[in-house]
Amino acid sequence: MNHFQYKNGQLYCEDIPVKDIAKEIGTPFYLYSKATLTRHFKAFDSSFADVDHLTCFAVKSCSNIAVLSLFGSLGGGADIVSGGELFRALKAGVKPERIIYSGVGKTEEELRYGLQSGILLFNVESEQELYRLNTVAGDMGKKAPVAFRVNPDVDPKTHAYISTGLSKNKFGVPINEALALYLLAEKMEGIDVKGVSCHIGSQLTRISPFVETLKKIKAFVHHLAEKGIFIQYIDLGGGVGIVYDDEEPPHPEEYAEAIKKEMGNLSVTLIFEPGRVIVGNAGIMVTEVQYTKTNRGGEKEKHFVVVDAGMNDLTRPSLYGAYHGIRPITEDRKMYQVVDIVGPICETGDFLAKDMNFPRVEQGDLLAVLSAGAYGFTMASNYNSRPRVAEVMVAGDRFEVIRRRETMEQLIQGEIIPDFLEK
Ligand code: LLP
Repeated sequence: MNHFQYKNGQLYCEDIPVKDIAKEIGTPFYLYSKATLTRHFKAFDSSFADVDHLTCFAVKSCSNIAVLSLFGSLGGGADIVSGGELFRALKAGVKPERIIYSGVGKTEEELRYGLQSGILLFNVESEQELYRLNTVAGDMGKKAPVAFRVNPDVDPKTHAYISTGLSKNKFGVPINEALALYLLAEKMEGIDVKGVSCHIGSQLTRISPFVETLKKIKAFVHHLAEKGIFIQYIDLGGGVGIVYDDEEPPHPEEYAEAIKKEMGNLSVTLIFEPGRVIVGNAGIMVTEVQYTKTNRGGEKEKHFVVVDAGMNDLTRPSLYGAYHGIRPITEDRKMYQVVDIVGPICETGDFLAKDMNFPRVEQGDLLAVLSAGAYGFTMASNYNSRPRVAEVMVAGDRFEVIRRRETMEQLIQGEIIPDFLEK
């Protein structure tokens, strides 16, 4: 359930017609509903209310500081993967002791920043990272809290680009080699071994890969205990998938039940790093039809709806062949035809939808691209020198621009024409 609903033929975000926002700020823009963000965060977090846990929102999925600040105020933490995300999370007021740091390529500078900020946990992904972290911590006279991200070799049954828990993927330390790292880390001055972490992939629509992973982790944790290593945290990575089209992902509550059952009486704090399940359906992208055109001459006529948002604004369809529902924001367009909805970028790969049965729209009509809250704005680029679009949050009958549309000047910010070029 989300708060993007039609009332009297008009799409509303909570209590505001989407067209009113478009009129005021122009298109394209991302639009988030505070009530939906809150509802989805709570739905996930409260499913684990009866066990010791921490919900660390995956910043990469939607990193606007207003969004992070909302989750922070709801008791959430942050799962970060770069110094930039740490900066955002701290700026948004997320407590450092609720921040965990994942990622295969943390630089020395990033490790130092994390240590200096006093974050909860570094999810270490290789032996070399462990040595580096130990050295940096030693230099700073600190002990780094560490969990190793183990790779359980479980197939998450999702898109190949977003599978992370198979041994052929670059992530983590193979679970059957991880013990050696724990034993090594125990002896290091600058390291405080605290947990085990994993993340097997994103947009999972089944529970079984999560349970299979947890089984392997439990066995591993017992093995560690036999060696005298007792851990405090198990981090189970990202959340469950969402409905874009006809998927049937588990509800967070079903996921929570399965995890709690599998946990049994293992006494640790569980950490989760959900992104998509919280923000995915709490955001849409609004775009305006610029032109409609029909290309004839091929085997069959091809109809195009050209809009003012492209693959630089929402990359998922082009990059993963991902489906996003698209609807006109008024329901009065009735006649249907099969169209490609495309952007202005100079590439054939620039599309938001292919062969979609779509109401006949006209120049100036506004369209809502659904389920765009996760990995939407955060994956946007300036390709074709297009300023990144605005982000807006609605709360009841109020809305606020939470990120201004970029200006032309910002497009060339930091660029320099060197003196050695002839003027
Ligand atoms: N934790 C780690 C270490 C991750 O790598 C990810 C996502 C998450 C948590 C959050 O997973 P979620 O709850 O959102 O499933 N750009 C792709 C998705 C990439 C996911 C990367 N990692 C997309 O648009 O589908």
